Amino acid sequence: MFWQDKVVFLTGASSGIGEALALAIAKRGAALGLVARRRELLDDLADRCRKFDIKVRVFPLDVTDEEALYEAADEMRAEFGRIDILIANAGIGGNDEETRAYTPRAVRKVIDTNLIGAVNAVHAVAPQMAERGSGHLVAISSLAGFRGLPKSAAYSASKAGMTAFFESVRLDLKHSGVDVTIIQPGFIRTPLTSGRTNKMPFLMELDDAIPLFLKAIEKKKKFAAFPWQLATLVRAGKIMPAWLYDRIAGRARYRE
Ligand SMILES: NC(=O)c1ccc[n+]([C@@H]2O[C@H](COP(=O)([O-])OP(=O)(O)OC[C@H]3O[C@@H](n4cnc5c(N)ncnc54)[C@H](OP(=O)(O)O)[C@@H]3O)[C@@H](O)[C@H]2O)c1
Repeated sequence: MFWQDKVVFLTGASSGIGEALALAIAKRGAALGLVARRRELLDDLADRCRKFDIKVRVFPLDVTDEEALYEAADEMRAEFGRIDILIANAGIGGNDEETRAYTPRAVRKVIDTNLIGAVNAVHAVAPQMAERGSGHLVAISSLAGFRGLPKSAAYSASKAGMTAFFESVRLDLKHSGVDVTIIQPGFIRTPLTSGRTNKMPFLMELDDAIPLFLKAIEKKKKFAAFPWQLATLVRAGKIMPAWLYDRIAGRARYRE
């Protein structure tokens, strides 16, 4: 019953985790606002979601466009009366050569999309949630945000920033009736991780991962990290001295 008649605003809905989450949430009876840049994919997804007899709006926009995102949230509120849940999921991997070479323009794109895009989304919904005394902010962060990873400087930084940002927001909104959930997945097979030839440890299929996302949101967990095997390793890495961490993490080749 958790999702029935909820109003969910989901960024990064056009593929991968966002697309699969949209369908799972639609199946459970929530109304959806779907945000991403590729309109034709959003329209197609919206049609598939409507088969579950729910209301869907699509917002083809770039999450780095603060005003466009705010206007989209406003349209959702005007049509549905409120936004109950924000899922800030839009993100890019930054696995191109420019980003790996620390080219500032390329690194900025990753940070702008993954971190500032989520900030824009929070700014578009959190004040109204706090005023209403209820709401739920969900960040799709990453295990890559626990500590720096090789060939992942921009991505790790963006996700570390995202985790810290949402944790601070949770503290700020502690007594406002707004919950904050930070989800930190490991590797999931989606367009973001496709094309990598090396083995990604404990790679999950979307079908296995989606129930874990839903459960974390339904239980209003403060943090949810999975799969548990990789989450345990990453947590151990967090408390390792740098010399030991460098030996172990420095060998990782999963981005290639
Ligand atoms: N797959 C994994 O292993 C994994 C692990 C941990 C965390 N994550 C996180 O999960 C989230 C979803 O990733 P995914 O694996 O599902 O990748 P994906 O299939 O590439 O999906 C990324 C989504 O973000 C949207 N997006 C990207 N840039 C955007 C922008 N500037 N404005 C609006 N939308 C934008 C894309 O839509 P458009 O291109 O149409 O805009 C797409 O819908 C990301 O934040 C990612 O960092 C993924």
